[in-house]
Amino acid sequence: MRKFNVAVVGATGAVGEEMLRVMEEVEFPVAKLVPLASARSAGGTVEYKDEEVKVKELTETIFEEEEIDIALFSAGGSVSAKFAPFAVEAGAVVIDNTSHFRMDPDVPLVVPEVNPEDITKWREKGIIANPNCSTIQMVQALKPIQETYGIQRIDVSTYQATSGAGKSAMDELVRQMQDFFAFKLDESEHRKFPHQIALNVIPQIDVFMENGFTKEEMKMVNETNKIMHDAIEVAATCVRVPTLRGHAESVTVTCKKDVDPEAAKKIISEGENVVVLDDPENGIYPMPTLCVEKNETFVGRIRGDIYRPNILHMFVVADNLRVGAATNAVRIAQKWIEMESI
Ligand code: A2P
Repeated sequence: MRKFNVAVVGATGAVGEEMLRVMEEVEFPVAKLVPLASARSAGGTVEYKDEEVKVKELTETIFEEEEIDIALFSAGGSVSAKFAPFAVEAGAVVIDNTSHFRMDPDVPLVVPEVNPEDITKWREKGIIANPNCSTIQMVQALKPIQETYGIQRIDVSTYQATSGAGKSAMDELVRQMQDFFAFKLDESEHRKFPHQIALNVIPQIDVFMENGFTKEEMKMVNETNKIMHDAIEVAATCVRVPTLRGHAESVTVTCKKDVDPEAAKKIISEGENVVVLDDPENGIYPMPTLCVEKNETFVGRIRGDIYRPNILHMFVVADNLRVGAATNAVRIAQKWIEMESI
């Protein structure tokens, strides 16, 4: 089997580190690993397969110099905007975890369990986009419902962990908790979030748009329709909560046909990389603590509506750094290899 020179852009970050872990776990066919970050981290090391691998500085020429075949980007939208074209120019396929290219009609937006066929469009720009973390876990859970009943509308509220905003955002929560126990939470700073996140929930992720929704919420709207190839009505409320890892979502889905909740439970459990945890009498349902470092999306609290037979409610949880980012990117790369059968 052919092996590939793989660059991880943002290898020292929260998602980049997980990309390395997932590649190890799936025994990704790596010929050479090139971890890239800013000049701040260049010269340091990251661990890969029990070896210390030197971090290099991201430059315009590095992809050509290192003969990169696959470049996984997770260092922020502006970094992707500037450097992804250099990776493509050097002959690499770019799998981009940022929002920068997601809605470009010439860039496929892929969740391998939902729309793997879109990967074939990668040649248009040499880039495949990884969706927003909250979108990925939701469409994975809903794909079997879409196939069986059709989906008219989705109403979703999210409970998003701090790691979605990077390592320094996790540090901000921990620091504020320490300040709380030192009786000085009042003096604690907040930089990554618009308000104190410790002992709080913040109904704002990213900036507000003119329509009253935030950019994060509109990502869920637009990306869901692009991935599911359908005109589904979506209303999202994205909320940051004081957890470190694992996004949760309360999802209400209005189907085109009437739904039998028991049948729906079975159909969802047959979804690829989806696990149903649904035994409320015994306190079994998905929670962030159960999903950390897991590569599956967990679904529970599946129930019908009290009023309408075509509405289904559920609770969906996944590790945002894995399922919502690193695992999805690595699965795209695996599918790309399989499809191109290089
Ligand atoms: P660095 O460690 O050098 O700052 P997180 O999402 O956890 O905050 O991580 C962001 C990742 O993106 C880190 O690996 C960070 O590297 C990297 N990064 C941020 N800005 C740049 C940049 N301008 N060039 C290259 N890498 C960057």
